[in-house]
Amino acid sequence: MIELDGVRVEVADYAAGARGPAKVLLDRLNLTLAEQRIALVGSNGSGKSTLLKLLNGLILPSDGTVSVAGLDTRKHGKAVRQRVGYVFTDPLAQLVMSTPLDDVQLSLRPLIKNKGERREKARDLLAQRGLLHTADQSIYDLSGGERQLVSLTTVLAVEPDIIVADEPTTLLDLRNRYLLRRVFSELPHQIIVSTHDLDVAGDMDRVIWLEGGAVVEDGVPSNVLAHYRDAMALR
Ligand SMILES: Nc1ncnc2c1ncn2[C@@H]1O[C@H](COP(=O)(O)OP(=O)(O)O)[C@@H](O)[C@H]1O
Ligand SMILES: [Mg+2]
Repeated sequence: MIELDGVRVEVADYAAGARGPAKVLLDRLNLTLAEQRIALVGSNGSGKSTLLKLLNGLILPSDGTVSVAGLDTRKHGKAVRQRVGYVFTDPLAQLVMSTPLDDVQLSLRPLIKNKGERREKARDLLAQRGLLHTADQSIYDLSGGERQLVSLTTVLAVEPDIIVADEPTTLLDLRNRYLLRRVFSELPHQIIVSTHDLDVAGDMDRVIWLEGGAVVEDGVPSNVLAHYRDAMALR
């Protein structure tokens, strides 16, 4: 379970000058994230990525606290990042090695010291996702869908309890979006995802709609998404 208590995120607003007022990205957020599957929706710039980055301590709140299973992200960043895996929109931002096998092995480094065992485990994990045939291919030669799945495999390799994914289907074609939705629906982890794909949001247990760094509506997908669609159509 993740708790946000009085969370505010502000950054220096360069447009306003060094002494100008700070820019507020998120304001007074109080959220208990306990459901297994949660989607964040909202316009570009509404604060979705900022909120997701708070959940694994990639950014820290300017005010208030974020805690994951009771661990404050400010004090226990390393333990939090082990529990909360972060999947980027663009897998190429995530994959640092040149092949899937090397990348998954890199993730396994802290868990498995023996090189041979690590390689075997990495091959197993790729096989579980149907990706073994890509193991030694250049990550640049994979399809978008394969790349996103490799990226997810590197995140799962660390054995997190929670997966945070920032617009994971945005760069995918329809077939791969269906594939990723299926993979997400089968994962036993808690999943918190930001998305513009309302089918993905509709799969979840709860949808949180953000605008301007604040929650507009929070509830079951059918209700929130109906209101969200209406509001976007009226703009
Ligand atoms: N480090 C930063 N400095 C200044 N502004 C930022 C920074 N990070 C994000 N923003 C701004 O905060 C707002 C929310 O950003 P973001 O969380 O990325 O929104 P979303 O993911 O919903 O599109 C945007 O207006 C963005 O430009
Ligand atoms: Mg974003």
